[in-house]
Amino acid sequence: MIPKENFQEKPKKLPRNCDKTSKEKIPGVSLAQSNRYPNRFTVFSVIPTSELTERTIMASPLKRILVTGGAGFLGSHLCQRLVDKGHDVICADNFFTSQKSNIAHLLGKPNFELIRHDVTQPLWVEVDEIYNLACPASPVHYQYNAIKTVKTSVMGAINMLGLAKRVGAKIFQASTSEVYGDPDVHPQPESYRGNVNPIGLRACYDEGKRCAETLFFDYHRQNGVNIRVVRIFNTYGPHMHPYDGRVVSNFIIQALNNENITIYGDGSQTRSFCYVDDLINGFLKLMDAPDDCIGPVNLGNPGEFTIKQLAEIVIKLVGSNSQLVYKDLPKDDPTQRRPIITQAQEKLGWEPKVKLEDGLKKTIAYFQSLQLDQFRRPTNHQIQ
Ligand SMILES: NC(=O)c1ccc[n+]([C@@H]2O[C@H](COP(=O)([O-])OP(=O)(O)OC[C@H]3O[C@@H](n4cnc5c(N)ncnc54)[C@H](O)[C@@H]3O)[C@@H](O)[C@H]2O)c1
Repeated sequence: MIPKENFQEKPKKLPRNCDKTSKEKIPGVSLAQSNRYPNRFTVFSVIPTSELTERTIMASPLKRILVTGGAGFLGSHLCQRLVDKGHDVICADNFFTSQKSNIAHLLGKPNFELIRHDVTQPLWVEVDEIYNLACPASPVHYQYNAIKTVKTSVMGAINMLGLAKRVGAKIFQASTSEVYGDPDVHPQPESYRGNVNPIGLRACYDEGKRCAETLFFDYHRQNGVNIRVVRIFNTYGPHMHPYDGRVVSNFIIQALNNENITIYGDGSQTRSFCYVDDLINGFLKLMDAPDDCIGPVNLGNPGEFTIKQLAEIVIKLVGSNSQLVYKDLPKDDPTQRRPIITQAQEKLGWEPKVKLEDGLKKTIAYFQSLQLDQFRRPTNHQIQ
């Protein structure tokens, strides 16, 4: 029998989200109060208090983690990394711009679970962390049903923040460099408030993401929700949908098929391209950063390339006969985009490591390995 004095006292009032079993007085059970959530208690069974070091209390690094949009390009890489770390991962996705093949290899794992779910609807799961990635990211897909895109960003944020508030979870928002719109400040620091056309074709995405950021900060101020917000700049890599319609996947598919490569405008508009592994490292670092490090933080690769340069590099790496053809620049297409990543460097010790050519080689190899007829086009747009 373990002496009674070895256990901490049961608190008078337990929070709503505490494990029900802890409401009963169970011999041999102690309750540890979390530093981060003063209202939360963790139940430790049969460990005498004398043996409960700070390490034991803060241990159990394994968490229950919800990833919305987890079957998508970024989400599938994130799920993989979290599963590899041993966390219990729930992937929620409505498969609008993805398909199960991205996470098929995870389906048999005991610490991975897939739910078909649309984030515009509430979701009730008990988790410690939420990564909110659900949203179409490519212009052709987010413009396909613009109203749904706004709903996904705004109602998705409300539903996930509500869940985070209820269960005391830390929540991460995948925001975007598109909140800067067509920037008149270059490169873009986090303090830049942007130049977005609120009634343009891209507004459903840009304003949806801006409103989601607002909601995150309001839930943080008003309800003390522990938030993390990243503004992601163009990212590429394996698991991009081959009919995704974004510049890197378009160019690679066209080059592999020896088709003309379409450049909108004169190709002098610039973008920065971050390899997916680098980006996911940044996600994990921000989630694990101290609680005063909530963002928004720019994550992207500051190396700046013109669209024409990108096309030429892809043609060279594929060894393709493709020619460049030029079409009109779509309305509101940003002319330049490059992140200032000083905050990520200083606060997270993060910076991208993968060079564009190295990342493109891996991405090209991935696209070469695909059987394209096994991919459903998310919308009826054609690569042109
Ligand atoms: N990849 C980038 O370069 C980039 C840049 C900026 C921001 N982001 C953001 O990162 C997140 C992930 O982007 P991605 O590149 O992986 O795109 P993606 O389209 O590959 O993934 C998005 C995922 O969300 C799912 N989804 C869409 N609407 C949903 C809904 N209503 N309910 C549930 N699931 C839904 C899709 O089916 C898909 O699996 C997005 O929020 C996007 O805005 C990405």
